[in-house]
Amino acid sequence: MSNVVVVGTQWGDEGKGKVVDILASRADLIVRFQGGNNAGHTLVVNGEQTICHLIPSGILHKDKKCLIGNGVVVDPEVLLEEIRILTGKGISITAKRLSLSEKAHLIMPYHKALDLAREAAKGKEKIGTTGRGIGPCYEDKVGRRGIRAIDLLDPKVLEEKIRSNLEEKNFLLSKFFGADILEFQPIYDNYLVMADKISPFISNVSLEIDEAVRKGGKILFEGAQGTHLDIDHGTYPFVTSSNPVSGAVCAGAGVGPDKLHHIMGIVKAYTTRVGAGPFPTELLDETGVYLQEKGAEFGATTGRRRRCGWLDLVMLRDSIRYNGLTSICVTKLDVLTGLDKIRICVAYNLNGKSIDHMPADLKTLAQCEPIFEEFPGWKEEISYAGNMDQLPRKTRDYLERIEEVSDVPLSIVSVGPRREQTIEMMDPFLAPCVLRPAS
Ligand code: GDP
Ligand code: IMO
Ligand code: MG
Repeated sequence: MSNVVVVGTQWGDEGKGKVVDILASRADLIVRFQGGNNAGHTLVVNGEQTICHLIPSGILHKDKKCLIGNGVVVDPEVLLEEIRILTGKGISITAKRLSLSEKAHLIMPYHKALDLAREAAKGKEKIGTTGRGIGPCYEDKVGRRGIRAIDLLDPKVLEEKIRSNLEEKNFLLSKFFGADILEFQPIYDNYLVMADKISPFISNVSLEIDEAVRKGGKILFEGAQGTHLDIDHGTYPFVTSSNPVSGAVCAGAGVGPDKLHHIMGIVKAYTTRVGAGPFPTELLDETGVYLQEKGAEFGATTGRRRRCGWLDLVMLRDSIRYNGLTSICVTKLDVLTGLDKIRICVAYNLNGKSIDHMPADLKTLAQCEPIFEEFPGWKEEISYAGNMDQLPRKTRDYLERIEEVSDVPLSIVSVGPRREQTIEMMDPFLAPCVLRPAS
């Protein structure tokens, strides 16, 4: 049986949550491998909306187990709140349903304070982070001073680590940023209380995945953020602090690359971005407003208005390469309904030369002008289409052009936020690897 990785190909919010929720019905384990509660993954089931920030989007399927891998940074307060909300919806969350890797790093109150202080200090130059402490937590992980989930099980170790971290963080907060310092005792007491509640979930996630694989189980890996927010390959420094690309599954969940078979890239039918940073196809006119309003493009985590623009296949080509995509899933196609004309960026014009990849240098990227292809729009309602034949010819032309330029087959098309508003052409668990003849 094959395992599936779902990743975002743009700047996040492509609709990964909806797709993971659908595919989860066919998986045995659903695993997050990077990011933290900067993510907001929206699921709409029986008309009810649920937003997952940390817990994998398979959690609504009562017989499925969800795992939070070591590559995720976990705010225990957010995790417990998410468990509380789900429990309130009648979904009981026990250790049978959820595991947290013992190696996952914990977001501490000083990470959030530093995130906010750094952003405030940057003023107009700020990244526009979610303010959830993600960057500072990953900094401590790489700096080898982080606190891991397993440290919650040993109060003495926890105490020492919080004390030594606080000494440094309080110096930074007060002396460098002029912000308030944080007291040790309330943090320690709170983390001890949370440790009691979280300890039943702490586990060796890598072993759990291995066991499932040996039994022939199917694993679904759920990416957060998107490829162009990747710390290495994104529009640095306007990125997040983890690697949302598929390769990060191995390090972030403790599995070998031989366990990854189908890599599905989620592509919103247009482009959005929350926070600052370059956006070559951004629409600052009424069409941008149309997409923002019709697509209800507000951040699922911070509620911020998302910037909107045309689909950018230069970005998609890069994503295909970085992730090794074996299929693409186009979401929010219904949002384009009603537009007279639809554009797709197929290349950038850089000083008279056409280029087909995103330059790493932001000054060069700023000089790039999108080269567009224009398509006639469609007026027909498409959110009830159950297969490709039920889509208008013009809609199919648009999809076929995306498939043609990207040279990766379409596996799923999403025509609305609900589970049933989905056209599936391929089961990724059965189509592990679509081989193309060498050119
Ligand atoms: P994620 O972060 O990639 O999981 O995406 P978000 O949940 O942040 O944002 C996607 C938004 O679009 C959510 O509000 C979804 O309910 C909604 N959505 C997902 N697929 C579709 C679709 O095909 N059509 C429409 N209209 N909305 C969709
Ligand atoms: P999902 O999983 C969209 C963006 C923030 C900011 C930048 C850095 O829902 O697609 P961070 O708090 O990570 O240090 O912020 O990254 N960002 C996202 N944008 N969707 C997300 O997640 C995001 N997670 C982070 O807006 O620009
Ligand atoms: Mg989101």
